[in-house]
Amino acid sequence: MSTVAIKGGRVLDASGARAADVLVDDGRIVAVGADLAGDRVLDAGGCVVAPGLVDLHAHLRQPGNEEAETVETGSRGAALGGFTAVVAMPNTTPAVDGAAAVREVQDLGRTALCEVFPAAAITVGRAGERLTPMAELAELGVRIFTDDGSGVQDGRLMRRAMEYAVGLPWPVVLAEHCEDAALAAGGHLHEGVWSAKLGIAGQPAEAEELMVMRDLALARLTGSRVHLQHLSTAGSVAMVRAARASGVAVTCEATPHHLALTHAECASFDPVFKVNPPLRTDDDVAAVRAGLADGTIDAIATDHAPHTAQDKEQPFDEAPPGMLGLETALAVACSESGLPLERVLALLSWQPARIAGIEDSHGGPVQAGRPANLCVIDPAATWTVDPARSASRSRNSPWAGRTLTGRVRHTLLAGEPVVVDGEAQR
Ligand code: DOR
Repeated sequence: MSTVAIKGGRVLDASGARAADVLVDDGRIVAVGADLAGDRVLDAGGCVVAPGLVDLHAHLRQPGNEEAETVETGSRGAALGGFTAVVAMPNTTPAVDGAAAVREVQDLGRTALCEVFPAAAITVGRAGERLTPMAELAELGVRIFTDDGSGVQDGRLMRRAMEYAVGLPWPVVLAEHCEDAALAAGGHLHEGVWSAKLGIAGQPAEAEELMVMRDLALARLTGSRVHLQHLSTAGSVAMVRAARASGVAVTCEATPHHLALTHAECASFDPVFKVNPPLRTDDDVAAVRAGLADGTIDAIATDHAPHTAQDKEQPFDEAPPGMLGLETALAVACSESGLPLERVLALLSWQPARIAGIEDSHGGPVQAGRPANLCVIDPAATWTVDPARSASRSRNSPWAGRTLTGRVRHTLLAGEPVVVDGEAQR
């Protein structure tokens, strides 16, 4: 087994920053210090060497939608984006709601360019009627349950899922796509000035906020942990802030697009800007940024949602919602959040690793003995996003043509350099 030396960088993890080389051998970090030599050298001059990024929320589309993405292509994009771990959403076809489907995604993940952790549905077929065999799936390693793509509409069923989760011997978390289906029905963008101007039906902020309110109340009632996905409104952020202050065990995430883009993008009628929850107002973007800055929001999660050109190139009100995110998340967070790199990395690495329960292998300190899941970031590199060069099978990036600052130079997965000088190695 040959050694890899990452040389000339500044190591940055939850404990702070220091100039150091990092030596990797047989999947682990074996030394962090000055003047380390290895069989292979990766240049980290001008770069930050950090724990690999962790995405709590990606749609890898396998099984069933392989023309849009596969575990392999999605994981390649993830590695290019600095991610060493990705939680795969279960709204596949069929849904990941049983042991066979969980095992299938786990098996596909074994040859991927990042570690893939399947999330499983809360309800069978994501139909919102019966709970999945959560204990059996948790025993297989599932730690996150979600019906993402839609929320669990029946409050009684969600209460039961939470009560069941509390009783399990594994630390599982229920994650909610907060959307009241009846209130959101028929809405293709945020209900506000742009939906009115464009003459396309919108969905109100309250469609998200009512379910945030309900799930915070249910978490308080049951004592369950709850994780609220892709929060997008000022009201949602305020409710989480208040609930956490009063002791509710809530964590939450926001996406790169909700911290940077507003519903004004929809004026182009370009369905690339159609997403669920929808892009919101300037005030909502400001609230999301404030929530990231003050710690109310625990993680930046991509909601990477590939769609084929055939599906996406339809009129705005017919196209499916969703946008690519894995390859651009770090750069968008660096360019648009207004946060220093150490906060961006907390939100993209060690905090989501804890939420996913994978902190033993991802997001941990860069120190001898730890698994070598690492990314090397050039914080000063500027680049222009070209979806044609994306590793994804899909091209629906809202960042096309935009110039961003901050780029991944290398990514190491269990010691293997899977991205070197910005190029995927397999
Ligand atoms: O925009 C979205 N796309 N939001 C979701 O919740 C689901 C996702 C998808 O699967 O395409």
